[in-house]
Amino acid sequence: MLNKVELKIEQYIVSLEHAEIYRLYKMLPVGKRLRAKLITYIAGGDLESIKLAAIVEMIHAASLLHDDVIDDATVRRGRDSINAIYGNKTAIMLGDILYSKGFNELTKLDSKIADVISDAVIKLSIGELDDVNISKSFCIDKDQYIKMIYGKTASLMEASASSAAILAGKVYEKYAIYGKNLGIAFQMIDDLLDITATSDTLGKPALHDFKEGKTTLPYIYLYELLDDKDKIKLKNMHKKTLTASESSWVLEQMSNHNIPTICYNEAKVLVLEAMELMREEDEEKLYMIANEMIDREY
Ligand code: FPP
Ligand code: MG
Repeated sequence: MLNKVELKIEQYIVSLEHAEIYRLYKMLPVGKRLRAKLITYIAGGDLESIKLAAIVEMIHAASLLHDDVIDDATVRRGRDSINAIYGNKTAIMLGDILYSKGFNELTKLDSKIADVISDAVIKLSIGELDDVNISKSFCIDKDQYIKMIYGKTASLMEASASSAAILAGKVYEKYAIYGKNLGIAFQMIDDLLDITATSDTLGKPALHDFKEGKTTLPYIYLYELLDDKDKIKLKNMHKKTLTASESSWVLEQMSNHNIPTICYNEAKVLVLEAMELMREEDEEKLYMIANEMIDREY
């Protein structure tokens, strides 16, 4: 089914009749296609479902192109990012093209589906703006962090799952919660991996978030647990390029205070709730997607 989604995206791009856009699109690394999996596992492999999955993946790809410009990221999924190779202008415009083509195709689907997806893109954009604003200062407000990651990551997963359920005539509420929980847990784990994984496995530089100003969940919890002197020390490292010994200090503190386990367990609670919902619905594949997210070492 995922193959059909790839072909549909390709068809949409080819229909633009622009060789340069096609060439740039082909340079984008294909990701996990998590959103397409959610949609096709919920709504099956008929044409409407494939179109919806293709549209959502194009919107997601557009958001990552823009995100790499915003984050000054030079690597995406282990490869040089489009902004790193061709500059910000090309990355932004390629994002705009994927986004607007996706939206144009979205208007041809059922209006309820178009409403759910377009509403999620508003949340996605607000979430990204919040991320940028929160990153300007050392922010250890957990509620703000959760609200922001819901917007920038979970809203589109929630919308993918609920719109696919609507398409399939299923009761959508449980699917919406499943997508939301999965999205929040996914971002929590992504933020944790920035600390626990090496740049080789990450496909992007490690400990990059804090330098970018992002006080993600591990930093929020670490700050809470440090003594006053170390609180100041951590705060002073915010938004700076850390020396090797400063990086080691941060990693050591994270490990001493058991932060990876605390964060992982918090993500796991959300994933287990998502799994339980899918067990009730007999959705084996969706259950397994959630299970795979937590069934590994962090
Ligand atoms: C990645 O977060 C960012 C997102 C998932 C959302 C980005 C959203 C926008 C740029 C606004 C919407 C734009 C369009 C065109 C629809 P991250 O930086 O924490 O993750 P990363 O490590 O994968 O970069
Ligand atoms: Mg980013």
